[in-house]
Order: sequence, then C-alpha cells, then structure tokens
Amino acid sequence: MPSSQALHPTPAVLVTGAGKRLGRAIALGLAKAGWRVAVHYRHSAPEAQQTAHECHALTAGSQAFAADLSEEAQVRALFSQVSAAMGHLDAVVNSAALFEHDSAQSFSYEQMEQHGRSNTGAAIVLAQLLHGHVQERHTTGVVVNMLDQKLWNFNPDFFSYTLSKAALEAATTMLAQALAPQLRVVGVAPGLTLTSHMLSDEQFQALHQLSPLGRSSTVDDVVATVLFALTNSSVTGTSLLVDGGQHLMKFERDFSLM
Ligand SMILES: NC(=O)c1ccc[n+]([C@@H]2O[C@H](COP(=O)([O-])OP(=O)(O)OC[C@H]3O[C@@H](n4cnc5c(N)ncnc54)[C@H](OP(=O)(O)O)[C@@H]3O)[C@@H](O)[C@H]2O)c1
Repeated sequence: MPSSQALHPTPAVLVTGAGKRLGRAIALGLAKAGWRVAVHYRHSAPEAQQTAHECHALTAGSQAFAADLSEEAQVRALFSQVSAAMGHLDAVVNSAALFEHDSAQSFSYEQMEQHGRSNTGAAIVLAQLLHGHVQERHTTGVVVNMLDQKLWNFNPDFFSYTLSKAALEAATTMLAQALAPQLRVVGVAPGLTLTSHMLSDEQFQALHQLSPLGRSSTVDDVVATVLFALTNSSVTGTSLLVDGGQHLMKFERDFSLM
C-alpha cells in the first residue's frame, strides 16, 4: 500500500476506461483488494455505473466519473472531481485506450493526434496531477500505464496506436525519473488477453495459444500484475510484460489481422 495509507485507511485509485473489458476487471480486482475505485468512462455510462456499483459492494466509496480523455480540460476536470469526491487519491491506472486501425500507408496527422491525446497525453497529465496532489498532502502515489507486448515485438499494424503506446512507454521512464520520490510509475504490458470484434472465438483461441508458454495473458494475471505494481514499493520506471512470452516471438501482423 502507498505510504499515505497511514493517513487514510482506505486507499483510492482512479482506473480509466473501467466500464468494460480489462479496465472493469482491474477496477473489480482492486476493489476486492481493498481499494476505493473511481471508475472512469467516456461513452459506457451504464457499464461504468454497474462496475462502480460492484466495486462499492466490495469496498465502500467507489463511484463512476465521465470524461473524454482526448480533451486536456476534461482530464484536468476529471482529476479535480475524483480527488474531491474520494477525499484523496493514491494511484491512477491508465487503462483507457483508443485502438483504431491505420498503417504506414493510411497514416495521418489526425490519427496520430487522436491516439496521442487519448493514450499518451491523458496518462501524462494524470501523472502530473497525481504528483501535485500527493506532494501537497505529503504522501506518495503510484501510476500504472497499460502498455502492450507489441512494443517489444513491433509490427506496422495499428501504426498510430503503437506509436502512442511507445511514447507512453518512454514517458513511463521519464515520469519515474522526474516525479520521484513522491511518485512511482510502472508499465504493465499484456499480450493478447481479450478478443476483439475483428476475431472469431476460434481465431482468438488459436492466437492466444501462440506463445512460448502455450497461452498469452489471462485477465486474472493482468489484474494481479497491476496490483503488484501498485503495492510493490521498490518498482518504478520499468515495465512488466505479462504475455506468456509473446514478445519473444516474431509476428508480422497485429493479432487482429492475422
Ligand atoms: N485487451 C487486450 O487483449 C490488450 C492487449 C494488450 C494491451 N492492452 C491494453 O490494456 C488496456 C485495456 O485494454 P482493453 O482491451 O480493455 O481496452 P479497450 O476495450 O480497447 O478500451 C477501453 C476503454 O477505453 C476508453 N476510451 C477510449 N478512448 C477514450 C477517450 N478518448 N476518452 C475516454 N475513454 C476512452 C473506452 O471507454 P468508453 O467505452 O467508456 O468510451 C473503452 O471502453 C489498453 O490500454 C490496451 O492498450 C489490452
């Protein structure tokens, strides 16, 4: 637990993109571990309310908050609302991500900018704000940035998404340098964990098994790794790959297009 636990018995974490999928699982896992969770969403309001309701049943004080992370003003307003409503904040898990396909051939400034704003800029601003917040309170905090095994195993699909995550990986190192000792900043990089609309169930199962360990990351393993990053007070400025070793293999295409 962060050192602020001494002042505030129940730590609080903001999980972005937590209405559905991995973000929801992370929110529930952290609530189960005793964290009050601010469940962030953009469009998935009913799903986020449901996640917050389930988190609240596990740890009282969890609630949902909306923001479009591609707008800096909304990111700053989100942090203010969350810290005021929760009383204080100890951690942020940057899980929300824009994941739209483009390639070297279809790349545009607009795609790069949209992915950069949502996936990189928002995470950096939230780290900056958490740093100011814990500094003011003489406590410490943690930021976990959700990355992707493909940063250690590049292919040119989802070009702007990959660039935005590569920038976030670099930012994880620089933020850890700049914001210590008040803040730890850790990357968590899953392999193929959840399917997408671009894959059939059979394709997903086959691709999930395509790893040195015979299976990529499970949702539970990703959640456990986020919890480890939040609670291990010696880890900062590094990334934990939780992917069954998929980054050790060479894939010519993104999983969604294989
Ligand atoms: N799933 C995997 O197998 C996998 C593999 C490797 C890495 N990852 C990483 O793990 C994280 C979670 O993955 P996921 O598959 O659960 O993500 P996802 O379903 O693709 O996206 C999660 C949420 O991000 C939110 N979001 C996107 N753009 C936003 C914006 N501009 N403002 C606010 N919210 C925005 C959306 O919230 P709303 O629905 O509320 O709009 C969406 O539900 C991501 O960072 C991803 O890159 C996932």
